Amino acid sequence: MVRNTMRYTVIHDHKTASEYVGKHIENYVKENPSAVLGLATGSTPLGIYEYLSKSKVDFSNSITFNLDEYVGLDETHPQSYRYFMNQHLFKNIKFMKNNFPTSKNYFNYDAITRSSGGIDIQILGIGTNGHIAFNEPGSSEHSATRIVDLTENTIKDNSRFFDNLEDVPKQAYTMGMSSIMGARKIFLLGGRNKKEIMYEAAFDPVNVNIPASYLQEHKNVEFILYD
Ligand code: GLP
Repeated sequence: MVRNTMRYTVIHDHKTASEYVGKHIENYVKENPSAVLGLATGSTPLGIYEYLSKSKVDFSNSITFNLDEYVGLDETHPQSYRYFMNQHLFKNIKFMKNNFPTSKNYFNYDAITRSSGGIDIQILGIGTNGHIAFNEPGSSEHSATRIVDLTENTIKDNSRFFDNLEDVPKQAYTMGMSSIMGARKIFLLGGRNKKEIMYEAAFDPVNVNIPASYLQEHKNVEFILYD
């Protein structure tokens, strides 16, 4: 197990944590205009997108790959992840291309990611059950991008964004663990409500019930807990 390459940092607030990651991305893209960025949805990365939305850096040669999308929600649906990204980042910052896993490409998504050079910087949030993207507990470390059944826990957690629990999609397309683990640099962020699961993911033995624990085996990962 390779634990000594992981950094676990506590930053006192969301804004500071977001700016820290946002600045890292800006500097990377300045040096490497054709960067490949792995992006996440949820409340966690919002501060990063707010920071990047005001950036003067040119992102027009960079490509993005989002982690996941609900099955059955198209980009006009306010709870779709594409809609979320359009609202919070893509309407403000022009990239060369924005990729999402969809019914048409999910079986090719890892190949498309590889042919773009692989992900340079991956942003991750974490589910309260330790999922990353929608790699739910039980997902293999070598899993490919695929359609998954969401767990009851995740459906319940994500129902806060929908009118009724029944409206939450039961399936999603998710980037697999293997493309995530292939990213050259990973930032996993979480707030106070993720404190316990982040600690378990970082310091418990690597295990299939906490997919985020696979990150202990990554060579360049930072866990950032903000209070
Ligand atoms: C969803 C997404 C994850 C995200 C998680 C946490 O389940 N599929 O990628 O990390 O929510 O969301 P939040 O940042 O809102 O806590």
